[in-house]
Amino acid sequence: MTASADPLALSKDAQDLLFREARSANAFGPGPVAEEKLRALHDLVKHGPTAMNVQPLRVLLLRSAEGRARLLPHLAEGNRAKTGAAPLTAVLAYDADFHERAEDFFPDRAGMVREVFADAEGRRAPAELNAHLQAGYFLLGVRAAGLAAGPMNGFDHAGVDAEFFAGTALHAFMAVNIGEPAGPHEFPRLPRLDYEDVWTEL
Ligand SMILES: Cc1cc2nc3c(=O)[nH]c(=O)nc-3n(C[C@H](O)[C@H](O)[C@H](O)COP(=O)(O)O)c2cc1C
Repeated sequence: MTASADPLALSKDAQDLLFREARSANAFGPGPVAEEKLRALHDLVKHGPTAMNVQPLRVLLLRSAEGRARLLPHLAEGNRAKTGAAPLTAVLAYDADFHERAEDFFPDRAGMVREVFADAEGRRAPAELNAHLQAGYFLLGVRAAGLAAGPMNGFDHAGVDAEFFAGTALHAFMAVNIGEPAGPHEFPRLPRLDYEDVWTEL
């Protein structure tokens, strides 16, 4: 008897790398994260969709001990030690003035895009929504690069904005420790909701 074909198009190895075997990391293997890998993951995940192609995510990389030392006091206590020990931390922010790049992300209709997003209050929700979507693509991109990611939103967001983004329209919403995967995770994976718990069909 032959095993039934996998209904998913992605190879089993890729499924495991991106989802089944990947964990939210608190510890990392030794060694730096090569810029080449970060560029390659960007070139992959930049294709993830955003509404009207707005792409509001901006990423600040903190690689030096000095850079991460500026972040640590703004983190929740439980996030400090592992961030201090990580080879690299990415601060993910959304650009509340993303519409100013309309010529770059929607060249044919830049004027229309600028008009749609002219109101600063009205821009905030799409900026947050689309940057959060891109953060999901980012986490999967880290895994696709063979790296481990430890996402965190336990930090003083206003404090991080003042520390790194003063005078800009950038607002931090997530920090992600990144490094080579380290051995087995320190605790078993928490349960996930089943299809029946999540999906309904009319
Ligand atoms: C947006 C987001 C914020 C998170 N914030 C924190 C955090 O501040 N501190 C922490 O230790 N873990 C944080 N986590 C990790 C989650 O608890 C973890 O992803 C979840 O329990 C699933 O773990 P697993 O990927 O190992 O199965 C965060 C995860 C996400 C996606």
